Amino acid sequence: MTDQYTLATAAVEHIRSLSPSVPAIGIILGSGLGAFASQVEDAVTIPYAEIPHFPQSTVVGHSGKLVLGTIGGVPVAVMQGRVHAYEGYPVEEVVFPARVLGLLGCKTLIVTNAAGGIRTTLSPGSLVVISDQINLTGMNAAGGANEPRFAMTPGAGQRFFDMSTVYTPRLRELAVHEAKEQGSVLTEGVYLAVLGPSFETPAEIRAFRTLGADLVGMSTVHEVIVARHMGLDVLGISLVTNMAAGVVDQAIDHEDVLEIGRNVEKKFTSLLVALVPQIAG
Ligand code: 6GU
Repeated sequence: MTDQYTLATAAVEHIRSLSPSVPAIGIILGSGLGAFASQVEDAVTIPYAEIPHFPQSTVVGHSGKLVLGTIGGVPVAVMQGRVHAYEGYPVEEVVFPARVLGLLGCKTLIVTNAAGGIRTTLSPGSLVVISDQINLTGMNAAGGANEPRFAMTPGAGQRFFDMSTVYTPRLRELAVHEAKEQGSVLTEGVYLAVLGPSFETPAEIRAFRTLGADLVGMSTVHEVIVARHMGLDVLGISLVTNMAAGVVDQAIDHEDVLEIGRNVEKKFTSLLVALVPQIAG
């Protein structure tokens, strides 16, 4: 079986043949947040289906395109849509695009997602900077033979690696500060990931609150683990699309996820557009 590094290198070569500039920032857009990709200037758009070994999403609201270009003059690589382990993908395929972003030259990975709100002070439409994560998916994408060739910064690529500051403090501060400048409130929160695809029961949500979680979702943690293995800086932003089970007396519907995304699109877009040059600078 061909190793993930070799497969990822083939994907990188194909992408570079279509867009030779080196992206500084990689951005993964979650459910309902894909419209941000239209902010990319001088865009080169590549459907995932055309990139060697790239996994294809089966979820409504995930379009499956890589968009390369610039935002505020900063070269970026934006993934419109991701795949999830609950779709049946092995975790190494879930993180394949994140590894490709690292190998393309991105020094920072921005991960975004739609999440359920556990903390009662959140509400649908809240944007939250992820301060830390709890991986309850039962998987770890850094497992298997260690691959030191994924190290993108000195000291990265170790078998065992530090997870004590996964979400880069400087980037968290920049995001909170920029939101304040724009007149919106951005709080921080702990993101807990489950495998899915079922949403949680009220008893599970009570348990997760006790564990210290503010948000719950089915993505992000695996990409963040491999980003840290590669030595990238990470910024995570969750869009609360609905409150988690039992927090309010209402059933959870994937359509809500997409609709809230459309409503918050402007706030999300102006925040990220302003942050990109600050992060790169
Ligand atoms: Cl309530 N749970 C999970 N696991 N993912 C979500 C969600 C809830 N709401 C949006 N995404």
